[in-house]
Amino acid sequence: SLMAQPDQLIITGQLLDVRSGKLMPEQAILLEHDRIHSIVPLNTLTSAQWALPLTDLSAYTVLPGLIDMHVHLTANPAQHGYRRLQQTPARQALFGVTAAQATLQAGFTSVRNLGAAGFADVDLRDAINAKEIAGPRMRVSGPAICMTGGHCDNNLLPHTYQASGDGVANGADAIRTKVRSNMKYGSDVIKFTATGGVLSRNTDVNASQFSLDEMQALVAEAHDRGAIVAAHAHGLRGIKRALEAGVDSIEHASFIDDDSLKRAKRQGTYLVMDVYVSDYILQEGEAAGILPESLAKERTVGQLQRQNFSKAVKAGLNIAYGTDAGVYTHGLNARQLNYMVQWGMTPLQAIQSATVTAAELLNWRNEQGQLNVGVLQAGAYADMVAVKGNPLQQITLLENIPVVIKGGELVKKVD
Ligand code: ARG
Repeated sequence: SLMAQPDQLIITGQLLDVRSGKLMPEQAILLEHDRIHSIVPLNTLTSAQWALPLTDLSAYTVLPGLIDMHVHLTANPAQHGYRRLQQTPARQALFGVTAAQATLQAGFTSVRNLGAAGFADVDLRDAINAKEIAGPRMRVSGPAICMTGGHCDNNLLPHTYQASGDGVANGADAIRTKVRSNMKYGSDVIKFTATGGVLSRNTDVNASQFSLDEMQALVAEAHDRGAIVAAHAHGLRGIKRALEAGVDSIEHASFIDDDSLKRAKRQGTYLVMDVYVSDYILQEGEAAGILPESLAKERTVGQLQRQNFSKAVKAGLNIAYGTDAGVYTHGLNARQLNYMVQWGMTPLQAIQSATVTAAELLNWRNEQGQLNVGVLQAGAYADMVAVKGNPLQQITLLENIPVVIKGGELVKKVD
């Protein structure tokens, strides 16, 4: 083993190896502080190891803590559209405290937060890391970067108010500066918008945002800083341009075609397709303040995105799990797993997308170069969830996770 002495023992009924899909009976997980020391068959434990502080999960199937690669923990799903103008970044961070807790309790031990005003996500992450509040491990983008009038600009008010989004930049040089300043103020990853969006006022989901030259400058600068790049893109032209610029993931990817699927596969670009949220927007969105024009846009996006998701699964793309929680209720992140199964994934593929595949896109590694999250192996954080029964047979078991462990700490156990 890489590390010194184990100081805690977790025994399992069975352990799901998410890489192979194998269920391994009666495994023991030895921890050292907040990381996994080693995993060994129960019947090989020494008496010294049996004497360690013990968590007994022998009645459960244990798998890695889940990862949601597209959340907005600082967004209140009851306050869309004009209601959001009332919220300062400080208020959003305070809301994020409850959202972070709900997300962790749902078994999501890591999230990538893609877009927050005033770096409220940086503050939320830092408060969680300082153990002031409970929440998942957060990798955060700070403000999403976009052009004037783009999806992440504030387009709700006339020019007299001079309102604009924190991430607005135009031209390659200004965009490089914005990437540098995001990194300076604590971003781990870079998010930008390559097309209009559903929930922004007066943007067209099919219209491209940023020129190729602007996107290339953004990607080069982010990669120089060691940050991965997530591109919000619904429309095909914006998807193609983002692929050309070499982004790490396409978010939404709603109108992706066969050529772009091929290209994404060839380049190893990940897709993050939020195939649940459409139901929430169309059913609950109006009451939550979503604008009529946004509801109309959603009606053109939701079903096509799901059909294209099926094509992406068939074509063997890397699909990382991302839900856009924050648009809808925090803590319901796992609902999308079953949608992904309905639209063509096996339960194992859906679980992989929310564990090892997400972790590979995140590319967050320990000193030995191994994944920190998304896998149960020596050197990774001791983040895991446990369910009674077999999630490979019944994916919806993950919608009600009774046991959550983050960094070796039992954060939830209900019977
Ligand atoms: N944040 C995204 C946007 O405003 C949400 C899109 C949700 N719709 C969907 N079918 N995935 O564009």
